[in-house]
Amino acid sequence: MEQKRIAFIGAGNMAGAIMGGLVASGYPAELITASNRSEGKLETLAEEYGIHTTTDNLKAADSADVVVLGVKPNIMEKVVKELAHLNDGKRLFISIAAGVTLAHFEAWFGAAVPLIRTMPNTPSLVGLGMTGLYASDSTNKDDKAISDMLMRAVGKTAWVKTEAELDHIIAVAGSAPAYFFLFMEAMEAKAIALGFDAVTARELVQQTASGASEMVRMRDMPIRELRRQVTSPGGTTAKAIESFQGAGLDRLVSDAMDAAIQRAREMAKEL
Ligand SMILES: NC(=O)c1ccc[n+]([C@@H]2O[C@H](COP(=O)([O-])OP(=O)(O)OC[C@H]3O[C@@H](n4cnc5c(N)ncnc54)[C@H](OP(=O)(O)O)[C@@H]3O)[C@@H](O)[C@H]2O)c1
Repeated sequence: MEQKRIAFIGAGNMAGAIMGGLVASGYPAELITASNRSEGKLETLAEEYGIHTTTDNLKAADSADVVVLGVKPNIMEKVVKELAHLNDGKRLFISIAAGVTLAHFEAWFGAAVPLIRTMPNTPSLVGLGMTGLYASDSTNKDDKAISDMLMRAVGKTAWVKTEAELDHIIAVAGSAPAYFFLFMEAMEAKAIALGFDAVTARELVQQTASGASEMVRMRDMPIRELRRQVTSPGGTTAKAIESFQGAGLDRLVSDAMDAAIQRAREMAKEL
């Protein structure tokens, strides 16, 4: 793939993680420019990764083939309007902002735009992200390839065919780290109630969660089967699972994910 000049507009946590991932994966730092409102973050990024930096969004975007829009959703309109005249059909725009739709972008750019919407999740900040991507009709194969490469710098990627499916990605991956945190919090609280000190309780929960996740990754079998293998009939695990299922865990999870989808749809309208 031809290497492109990439500008990040907004160099916060997520954009910083992507830039770090790109450089670590061997992408030339001299092809990356970060633009940010305040200078402190830029100095750190320049020092850590050797990339170019500026506080001038326009200058950064003007000299790039690919412009990554990495500001918060509430600032996006202002930033896009500032860059709108750079939408010349040759430059690709990539958004990492949750809930900002293609219709918003087209309204702010004032025209159709080659744009790829990405929906990363928080573990991207530690290189274990799961990002959903959606490509507008004005994009081509190369645009998709570079967006995929960008987000694979911080984890794995999954493409969706319709923009509406990005809301499903939010329910399954975007919001989902918090579901696991919630479950882990409840287990940690119970471990402490059982008498473990806080450090041990946290480690018991963390190591078990990470072990279970690794087994799902490494063993080529349905998750249900993995669960069956650790659930002897009449044993302790069976009793715990019975208790979860009796309380309607499947239904709870499904309802929670539907609530996330519903909220994603509402938030897109609120912007
Ligand atoms: N963090 C996550 O886990 C996560 C997950 C999924 C999606 N996202 C998306 O990623 C985007 C960024 O989130 P984040 O967590 O990385 O936020 P963040 O750390 O606050 O980064 C946003 C950056 O934008 C900069 N900025 C603000 N106004 C600007 C302007 N007019 N021009 C240039 N830069 C400007 C801010 O600079 P100052 O600090 O100087 O104000 C800040 O460094 C959001 O749209 C969010 O929806 C984040």
